[in-house]
Amino acid sequence: MAMTEVDARRRDEADPGHRDLFRIPPAEGGGYAEVAYMAGNSLGLQPRATRDELLEDLDAWARLGVEGHLEAGRPWLPYHELLTEQAARLVGGLPSETVVMNSLTVNLHLLMVSFYRPSGTRTRIVIEDAAFPSDSYAVRSQVAFHGLDPDAEVVRLRPRDGEDCLRTEDVLAYLRDEGGRVALVLLGGVNYLTGELMDIPAITGAARAAGAVAGWDLAHAAGNVPLRLHEWGVDFAAWCSYKYLNSGPGALSGVFVHEWHLGDPDLPRFEGWWSTAAATRFEMTPTSRPPATVEAWQISNPPIYAMGPVRTSLELFDKVGMEALRARSLRLTAYLESLLDEVLPGRPLVQVTPRDPERRGCQLSVRTTAMGANELARRLRHEHGVIADARQPDIVRFAPVPLYSTYDDCRRVAEALAAIFPKDAS
Ligand SMILES: Cc1ncc(COP(=O)(O)O)c(C=O)c1O
Repeated sequence: MAMTEVDARRRDEADPGHRDLFRIPPAEGGGYAEVAYMAGNSLGLQPRATRDELLEDLDAWARLGVEGHLEAGRPWLPYHELLTEQAARLVGGLPSETVVMNSLTVNLHLLMVSFYRPSGTRTRIVIEDAAFPSDSYAVRSQVAFHGLDPDAEVVRLRPRDGEDCLRTEDVLAYLRDEGGRVALVLLGGVNYLTGELMDIPAITGAARAAGAVAGWDLAHAAGNVPLRLHEWGVDFAAWCSYKYLNSGPGALSGVFVHEWHLGDPDLPRFEGWWSTAAATRFEMTPTSRPPATVEAWQISNPPIYAMGPVRTSLELFDKVGMEALRARSLRLTAYLESLLDEVLPGRPLVQVTPRDPERRGCQLSVRTTAMGANELARRLRHEHGVIADARQPDIVRFAPVPLYSTYDDCRRVAEALAAIFPKDAS
């Protein structure tokens, strides 16, 4: 039986991660000093460096006032540029294809202004039935904005009966059979509920072959799994920075637009003064001269105190490297799964995340059939010091995050589930 503290701690010594770079919240229950934090897929923990960097940016304002736009240690006018190369490396984009701005749903809307252009019989948007509700609302409102009927034009792809995850072959079959009616495919790279990692290159290829645009919501993929957006031919993507990217609640979003769309004068875009090329921004002309980069999608000047935490975080990802993180992630999640395999059978709990490590990131979702998800998350927290994340009505998500989670955190999850559902009571 691998579920002993000695075994978990031995694994932690051999494969330590970067926990010391983060602030780990104290535990409220379970007799532990620190929580076993499994909710980094919802809100990542705070890097220690973030506070100091934010204070530096605040001090620059105090010291320099308006002159900080050009004279701050990290000048404010081009602040977003400090994030570009690292964000591009993180998602496998070119710097010209990647920018950090706004928040995620806002960016999805701005991108759909350009990339959802229904015409003739090509009017549909394809999402997954278990899409994050914000995406569902966003695409429905886009369809309605074009004067079309969301109930008719938004196609929600469902898993097969009795299954939780969407099969790639079923997405491809839909695109083969109905692709001529599809204007846009907008799926989650990693599904927020099931933790399923979609086959982004295969679905992107099929969408484009069908004449549709391939867009991706990478909220649960960025910083979780390696991405090669440019190489895969993704048309556009957006992601937030508050989950695996540890940049704080409501943190900014990244945007990718493939090179082949850059500089296209026929693409509609909403504009503001940050859409015009930086060199001409202060010429105060009445019309913009957008650059042939994704910066043409920017609208407003960058919010410095929101940008700082993203910069700090991206530096960390750059230093550690996504490949190394993925390697530890595979080990850590496999360990959690092996412990769940010992605990779940005979209890009213079922893993819904695919068992194939290539079809998931670090998150393992568990369905609870004898207790509501909220109640289970509450007991995990208050009785065992485990922070997991409940999705109503019956899914609890556990995400051992390779930057800061430990093997012992995983052991604590399994031990807590075993204690909450004693075998003879199930
Ligand atoms: C998959 C997914 N898409 C969209 C959102 C909404 O993000 P925002 O509130 O930053 O627009 C979330 C938030 O958790 C999400 O998980």
